[in-house]
Amino acid sequence: MESQELKSRRPWIVGVSGASGTPYAAAVLRGLLAAGESVDLVVSRASRLTLLDETGISFRDAHWREDLATWLARGADGKPGTFGVTASDLADVRYWAAGDLAAGPSSGSYPAKGMLVVPASTAAVAGVALGLSKDLLQRVASVTLKERRPLVVAVRETPLTGQTLKHMVTLDEAGAVVLPASPAFYAGATHIQDLVDFVAGRVLDAARVPHRLYRRWEGELGAALRAD
Ligand SMILES: Cc1cc2nc3c(=O)[nH]c(=O)nc-3n(C[C@H](O)[C@H](O)[C@H](O)COP(=O)(O)O)c2cc1C
Repeated sequence: MESQELKSRRPWIVGVSGASGTPYAAAVLRGLLAAGESVDLVVSRASRLTLLDETGISFRDAHWREDLATWLARGADGKPGTFGVTASDLADVRYWAAGDLAAGPSSGSYPAKGMLVVPASTAAVAGVALGLSKDLLQRVASVTLKERRPLVVAVRETPLTGQTLKHMVTLDEAGAVVLPASPAFYAGATHIQDLVDFVAGRVLDAARVPHRLYRRWEGELGAALRAD
């Protein structure tokens, strides 16, 4: 076999479900692209509503590349054109319709690195924990687990029911990283984008993808006091 064939494209699959937090997904997608990673995208039906609500974008399968570019260029405060992303920057991105259960990533033989579900709704958490595969996003997450590939699930809901907590334990025991979309304030946030980038950065940390989305804690605070 030619060595070129062995070095085939191995994307991260990003699943966007219908929880609040579409700016988290945009920041993760920008981070993956900035790191030179290939990306395959699945956008659930319900997430069209959160996207519309949070960004004003009516995301359509038929115009996904243009809509994605508009979305990724938008800041967390909703301002268009905050980031310099155009459709031509997305030439290597592949998009799979949420209802397409015959899509490439629905098979374990598809050469994916792993999957990041950002944000993850409690419905998606339940569906993956119970192995429902009711749409492509849930199916790809289940495939990622069965193939023992990295799965990061950035849950966004509060408060949480006992049922969702049990589903999260199930995912943890199956090998997923369950990562609440829970921004921290120690990294010097002054804008909404900083808080979003912190969560996105933690998602990329869990996937071992290098990034500069937030300032890491290096133990500098109160060093003098701690030395006492
Ligand atoms: C504006 C809006 C915000 C929502 N926010 C959340 C949320 O933060 N967390 C959540 O679990 N569900 C949230 N939902 C409900 C989900 O969209 C709903 O459970 C849906 O069935 C999820 O489907 P999916 O997992 O296939 O995307 C929200 C719905 C709407 C319309």
